[in-house]
Amino acid sequence: MTVTKGLEGIVATTSSISSIVDGVLTYRGFDIDDLAENASFEETAYLLWFGSLPTSAELETLNRDLSAFAPIPEQVIEQMKLYPKDTNTMAALRTAISSLALYDDDADDMSREANEIKAVKLQAQLPTVVAALARIRKGLEPVAPKEGASIAENFLYMLWGKQPDIVSVKALDAALVLHADHELNASTFAGRVTVATLSDIYSGVTSAIGALKGPLHGGANEAVMKMLEEIGSLDAVEPFVRGKLERREKIMGFGHRVYKNGDPRAKHLMKMSLELGTMKGDTTLYEMSVKIEDLITGQKGLKPNVDFYSASVYTQLGIERELFTPIFAISRVSGWTAHILEQLGDNRIIRPRAEYTGLVEQKYVPIEQR
Ligand code: ACO
Repeated sequence: MTVTKGLEGIVATTSSISSIVDGVLTYRGFDIDDLAENASFEETAYLLWFGSLPTSAELETLNRDLSAFAPIPEQVIEQMKLYPKDTNTMAALRTAISSLALYDDDADDMSREANEIKAVKLQAQLPTVVAALARIRKGLEPVAPKEGASIAENFLYMLWGKQPDIVSVKALDAALVLHADHELNASTFAGRVTVATLSDIYSGVTSAIGALKGPLHGGANEAVMKMLEEIGSLDAVEPFVRGKLERREKIMGFGHRVYKNGDPRAKHLMKMSLELGTMKGDTTLYEMSVKIEDLITGQKGLKPNVDFYSASVYTQLGIERELFTPIFAISRVSGWTAHILEQLGDNRIIRPRAEYTGLVEQKYVPIEQR
């Protein structure tokens, strides 16, 4: 047996959803740079699920379905009000999304048609759940989704309880496009493993949320913001980074299993971070981030990943740190569900082996003799 720690370099499936070749990320053959500049998040989700960009009529139908599915069961809202107010937001999200299945009569219908509907439903409901969790934590009543708004607009509307400005909506929409899919990343793999047992799509997405929560994956964007808060000022960047490097501690938001010459999504978020800072008349967070990047890239050769500049982007949008990873999930649920549909379309249970390194030839000893 050859053991490859962390499955590095192992090709575990075929997929026609997204690819990373020579540092270029594509969704269904479209370069992420092209989509980030031109596509809406809804068009991107449609592309991931159905393989091509939607026509106007197809997009209109999708938007109508997303609006119709966006409200969540009252029972789920009532349960969320019982969660401890200071609980980890991703833990709360994982629990709430799992509970949505209890109120969907078609949760266990494994037909392609039913699963496609549930993919759209999960995409529609995840932003409603995140916004409701955020408001409940602050002691506020959740705001119902409004009809006819995009996912980005609706999320900010439900979060803030008022119509968001166009700049914030556009920035969030672009961030959602950039996070939508990423080949066989850890959370997508977790979702595929779960449904490969022929478990349901809610279980798959719940597994994926659990995997995304970790700081080595989606949780890194919150860790980046924590670090920026801890550093506090531009002058404090250098001693902070030097200390981290001397202690051989990881700097969150840097490095990647697949990209060794930089994450193609990072440059878009870096540009957004500068634009938002300039508009608000305070580019401190952007400047601190650039200084950290210069030091880490200069000394370790590590480049920022998608999580690094998204931290300052979301903060400058006025979004609290605890929602960064849930926002990642709002976007990535499109990719997770596309992969789940693909997995179920040509399924085989995913069951690798482990090389045993434990004790051998043990004999049972009665408890009183141990
Ligand atoms: N800071 C400092 N050193 C690092 C960092 C970092 N962020 N990332 C990697 N390194 C170093 C490691 O210490 C290791 O050095 P060594 O060989 O001297 O021991 C070497 O680079 C290789 O790193 P690994 O952790 O083995 O790389 P792996 O491919 O297993 O992990 C990962 C990739 C998890 C992304 C890693 O780079 C990391 O922990 N980064 C910080 C967390 C992060 O930003 N995660 C988000 C990734 S993007 C996403 O999931 C959405």
